[in-house]
Amino acid sequence: MRAFLTYAVAGAAMLSAGFAVAQHHDHQGKTDNSHMEHGATVADTREFVKFPPDLVEHTIANMRDHLLTLQQINEALAAGEPEKAAKIAEERLGMSSLRLHGASEVAKYMPQGMQDAGTSMHKAASRFAIEAQNVGVTGEMKPAVGALGQVMAACVGCHAGYRLK
Ligand code: HEC
Repeated sequence: MRAFLTYAVAGAAMLSAGFAVAQHHDHQGKTDNSHMEHGATVADTREFVKFPPDLVEHTIANMRDHLLTLQQINEALAAGEPEKAAKIAEERLGMSSLRLHGASEVAKYMPQGMQDAGTSMHKAASRFAIEAQNVGVTGEMKPAVGALGQVMAACVGCHAGYRLK
């Protein structure tokens, strides 16, 4: 009886852990942080990717610049300067930033899925840059904000799948 109970409890725990993971994926890209509260119970399913140590530090530093860039884009939009937001996005995250980030050097250490996530971020940022430039013409902010959301979705997607440490 005792053994049965132990199994039942363990099974329930596994089920709820599985549910938490599924929930996490369901909410990807949406503004729902509910899974964060259960962070400790969610198994880390991210794939470990082995980079040379100096490239790990370089990449992580790049990441902090990515986040800074999102902040600056948001500030430019809020200040009514969509052209500035477009320029920042294209130069620092868009297709124009590939050389800046040494993308070709890093790509060879990445599994295909991670490369694709990187490419989709660069493409999304270049699409955002176009939408942000359009704001100056149309005065319509929604497409730009939506395109910025797509950039963030690319960040979230890669982070959900891969880790370097
Ligand atoms: C191609 C994959 C990929 C994309 C796209 C990506 N990241 Fe990352 N990011 C990573 C990995 C891998 C790590 C390291 C995670 C780990 O090892 O725990 C990381 C770490 C970070 C960190 C933590 C830095 C630190 O000091 O520890 C920040 C902040 C970050 N990313 C921001 C962003 C932002 C913002 C974007 C989108 C504009 C983005 N990243 C897009 C893969 C990616």
